[in-house]
Amino acid sequence: MKELGRLLRFARPYWAALLASTVLMAGVGAGQALVVLLVRSVFDRVLQPDTPDALVLLVNIPVIHKALYLQQIVPSFLHNVWTMVAAAIVEVYLFKGLCDYLGNFLISYAGFSAVTDLRQRVFDCVLHQDAHFFETNSTGRLMSAILNDIDKIQEAVSHMLADWLRQVFTLIALLIVVIQTDWKLAIVSLTVLPFVLVPTARLGKRIRRTSRKAQDNTAELNEILQETISGQQVVKTFGTEEFESNRFLVAARRLKNTSLKYVAQQAVASPVIEFFGALTIVGLLTYARSQIKIGAMTTGEFTSFVIALLMLYEPVKRLTGIHNIFEQALGASQKVFEYLDRERGIQDKPSAHRLHRFQHSISFENVSFRYPGAPDGFLLHDIQLEVKAGEVVALVGPSGAGKTTLANLAPRFYDATSGAVKIDGRDVRDVKLASLREKIGIVAQDTFLFNDTVANNIRYGRANASDEEVREAARSALAEEFILAMPQGYDTLIGERGTKLSGGQRQRIAIARALLKNAPILILDEATSQLDTESELLVQKALQKLMEKRTVIVIAHRLSTIRRADKIVVLDRGRISETGTHADLISQGGIYQRLHDMQYLTLTAGAAPESLPEKSTAG
Ligand SMILES: Nc1ncnc2c1ncn2[C@@H]1O[C@H](COP(=O)(O)OP(=O)(O)O)[C@@H](O)[C@H]1O
Ligand SMILES: [Mg+2]
Repeated sequence: MKELGRLLRFARPYWAALLASTVLMAGVGAGQALVVLLVRSVFDRVLQPDTPDALVLLVNIPVIHKALYLQQIVPSFLHNVWTMVAAAIVEVYLFKGLCDYLGNFLISYAGFSAVTDLRQRVFDCVLHQDAHFFETNSTGRLMSAILNDIDKIQEAVSHMLADWLRQVFTLIALLIVVIQTDWKLAIVSLTVLPFVLVPTARLGKRIRRTSRKAQDNTAELNEILQETISGQQVVKTFGTEEFESNRFLVAARRLKNTSLKYVAQQAVASPVIEFFGALTIVGLLTYARSQIKIGAMTTGEFTSFVIALLMLYEPVKRLTGIHNIFEQALGASQKVFEYLDRERGIQDKPSAHRLHRFQHSISFENVSFRYPGAPDGFLLHDIQLEVKAGEVVALVGPSGAGKTTLANLAPRFYDATSGAVKIDGRDVRDVKLASLREKIGIVAQDTFLFNDTVANNIRYGRANASDEEVREAARSALAEEFILAMPQGYDTLIGERGTKLSGGQRQRIAIARALLKNAPILILDEATSQLDTESELLVQKALQKLMEKRTVIVIAHRLSTIRRADKIVVLDRGRISETGTHADLISQGGIYQRLHDMQYLTLTAGAAPESLPEKSTAG
C-alpha cells in the first residue's frame, strides 16, 4: 500500500482534472440510478393508462431527505406521463453519456500526465546512476522497467481509474435505489456480498505476486532480445542461432506459464460472483411472487428492484476485476520505485564546489581500489602518482594490470576505496561532478557513437557548437576527407553505434568530438589499439593534434607511441613498479624493458612486410 501513496503523489499536480472527473463520474452513477427509476415509472404509470397524471415520485434521497419527481427533470410543457418518461430517458442517457465522455477524458489526462512524470523521473534516475549500477542491471531489464512496468501502471491509472470511479458511483447510486425500494429485501439480497468480496480480496495478493513474476519474465525476454540483436554479428559468427532461439523459447515459455497462472487466478472471480447472483435472483423471485399477490409490492417496484440488483452485480464484478489490475500495477510499481529509491553511489556532496579551472596537477594519493562487484581482493594498491599540468604521462603494463581502472578514477566513474584522487589539491569527491567531467576529455578503445548524423555525433556534449567549429574539429582530427566522401557529408547517418564506419573512422570522429569539447585534461585509453597500421598512423597524427597544450594520461599498448611521454609509469598487478622516462626505463632491466624488447621483436619479425610500403612512401 506504500506504493499506492507514492503513485498518488505523482497524480497530485493534476488534482483539478481528477476532481472534475470524479464529479462527472458521480453524474454517470446518478444517471444509471435514474434509468432504473424510470423503468419503475414505465411499469407502474405508463403501462397502466388508468392512473391519474399526478406527480411521479422518482426517489426519496436518503440522508438529505429530498424527494425527486419526474416533473422536475423534464421541460414543464410536457404533461402526459409517457412523453415525460420518454423525454426523461433521452435526457438521462444524454447526460450520462456526456459525463462519461468528459470524465473519461479528464481522468486519462491526469493518468497519462502523472505516468509521463513518473517515467521521466525513473529515466533521469537511471541516467544518473554510476558505472556499478549498469554493471549489475542489464540494458534489457532496465528497458523493461522503464517501458513495460510503467505501461502496467499507465493502464491502471488511466483506463482503470476511470472505470473504477464510474463503477463505484454506479454502485452507490444503485444501492440507494435498492434500499429505498425495500430495505429489508435489500439487506437480505446483499448478504451474499461478503461471500464474494472476501475470497476475491484474498486472491488479490496472489495475483499481485503472479503479475510481478510475469513482469520479471518479460524483462528476461527483453534482455535476451536486446542482447541477441546488438550481438547479432557474434551470433552469426559462431552460428549460435539455435542456441539463442532456445534461450528465447525457454524464457517465453516461462512467461506463458506465468501468464496462464495469472489468468487462472484472475478469471475465477467473475463466474463466482455470477453464480451467487443467480442464487439471489431465484430466492428473490420466490419472495416477490408472494408479495405481489398480497399487494405489498407493485410490479414496477419489483422489476426496478431486480434490474437494480442485476445492475449492481456488474459494478461489483468489474470492481474486483479492476482491483486485480490495480494489484498488478502495484506489483509493477515496486520495481519502478526500487530504481527511484536507489542511492546514487557517486553524486555531488551538498558542499561540493565548482571546479572553475584546471591549473596545477592531478594527483593520486595512496589510492587503493577494488570493484564494488568484486569484494575479494584489491585491484589497485597504494598508488602514488602526480600528473602535472601540461605533462604527458603514460601508463603501461600487461593487460589486466589496472591501467583503465586507474584512469577511470579521475573522472569519478568509480571512487577510490581508500586514499584520494585530487585535482589542483582538492579531492575529486569535493567538487561538482559536472564541473569535474567537463575538464576531462576521453578517447577510449571503443567509442560509442549515436545513430545520428556525423555532425551531431561530433557536436555531442556541445550542442551549441557552430557548423564551422564542427568542421574545424573534423579537419584537425583528419576526419574531414572521409566525411565529405560519404553520401550526405556531415549529414550522413552513421548507423547504430556507427556501424557504417570503419574502426579508424570511428576513432577519428571520437577525436573530433574530444577536440570540440576542448577539455584541458585528456585521457587516451588504448585509442589506437584496435586499428590497422594505416588508420593507426592517421589516428596517431590526429591524437598528436589533440594532445597539444593539454595534460594527458595516455594508455598505449604500443610503446612506440609513448616514447616522448614526460613520464612513463609501469603498472603491474595493481602496483606501480617503475617510473621514469623512456631513456631511464629502457636500460633498467624491468618490465618496461621486457615489454619493449618483446614488441621490438614482434615488430621486426611479424609486422615487417606490412610496414615496408609505409617506409617507402615516407622515405
Ligand atoms: N567493472 C569491473 N568489475 C569488476 N572487475 C573489473 C571491472 N573492470 C575490470 N575489472 C577487473 O580489473 C582488472 C583490471 O582491469 P583494467 O583496469 O581494465 O586493466 P587494464 O586496463 O590494465 O588492461 C581486470 O582483471 C578485470 O578483470
Ligand atoms: Mg584497459
